[in-house]
Amino acid sequence: MKAMALRRYGRTEDLEWTELPDPKVAPGEVLVRVKAAGVNPVDWKLAEGRLDAVMETCFPLIPGWDVAGVVEQVGFDVTEFAPGDEVFGYVRKDWAQHGAYAELVSAHVRLLAPKPAALTWEEAAGVPLAGLTAYQAIQRTGLQPHETVLIHGAAGGVGSFGVQIATALGARVIATASERNHDFLRSLGAVPVAYGAGLRDRVRAQAPQGVDAAVDFAGHDAVDVSLDLLDDPSRLASVVDPEAAAKGGHYVWVRPDRSGLAALAALADEGRLTVHLDRVLPLREAAEAWRISQGGHTRGKLVLSVPGR
Ligand SMILES: NC(=O)c1ccc[n+]([C@@H]2O[C@H](COP(=O)([O-])OP(=O)(O)OC[C@H]3O[C@@H](n4cnc5c(N)ncnc54)[C@H](OP(=O)(O)O)[C@@H]3O)[C@@H](O)[C@H]2O)c1
Repeated sequence: MKAMALRRYGRTEDLEWTELPDPKVAPGEVLVRVKAAGVNPVDWKLAEGRLDAVMETCFPLIPGWDVAGVVEQVGFDVTEFAPGDEVFGYVRKDWAQHGAYAELVSAHVRLLAPKPAALTWEEAAGVPLAGLTAYQAIQRTGLQPHETVLIHGAAGGVGSFGVQIATALGARVIATASERNHDFLRSLGAVPVAYGAGLRDRVRAQAPQGVDAAVDFAGHDAVDVSLDLLDDPSRLASVVDPEAAAKGGHYVWVRPDRSGLAALAALADEGRLTVHLDRVLPLREAAEAWRISQGGHTRGKLVLSVPGR
């Protein structure tokens, strides 16, 4: 099969269009013919070696943990899926080697769910990692309907799902982004505020009593600003800043979760979760997608489309 791969830890320009053996399909796994692969900042962070202390990584490394595609083959004792099924998933294994930037990827059935019918292949591939991150972070804050939540980094992949998940729950959402993304945030159901100096006061102008919960998908001063606006630090979750845990909140690392995927798919099929695609690029242009991601101003998702059968 063809894949984008790295021979060693490296940078964007070290990604190569390569011929590699088709992945093996272990018991409990299925082989997925990739239609589209989502791009996440962790893809290039992993490639740079930034996760080396916490994750076994084997080379050649095919990056990519987000997939939408068609089941081509099933391993021993798989009853959940059959060839021809349309699936999507966050296909992170316990080590990094065989990712989704390829024509084929194998994945355990616990990492996959039926693809939401309302979404295109590219839209579906944008959902799993970022959608689950937003879903799990919001769950960790214990957010309830009619509460007010502050979402930092709301215009990006994780944040745009976070706004929609919190809105669907019935919460009021105050969300940070640069001015150019404020109409986008309004379209998702949030009250936008600009990040940077004076953020606390701008949020207080919208929520004089402070906020009930806060999620940080941006870093910088988001944890400290949030703690000033919350009565209870345990209502804060950050996916960027480990200091959140030391300060009484939560540091969340997204876990594969089939039921979470199904919940996201249901929201999409009900029309309550849409996917804004910033750019769709062919798989071979993954390096360009990484350069855009590294710019830090993606609106919604970057996705790679995979030509083939
Ligand atoms: N722990 C985990 O499990 C986990 C999982 C997924 C992601 N993450 C991390 O979470 C972060 C967000 O991921 P992502 O996929 O959403 O990234 P992304 O799509 O690249 O996010 C880009 C967005 O960040 C916004 N932004 C940039 N600087 C900001 C600031 N100071 N305040 C508020 N918003 C700002 C930008 O908005 P403007 O263009 O308006 O500036 C842009 O829309 C990344 O650091 C990623 O590595 C962690």
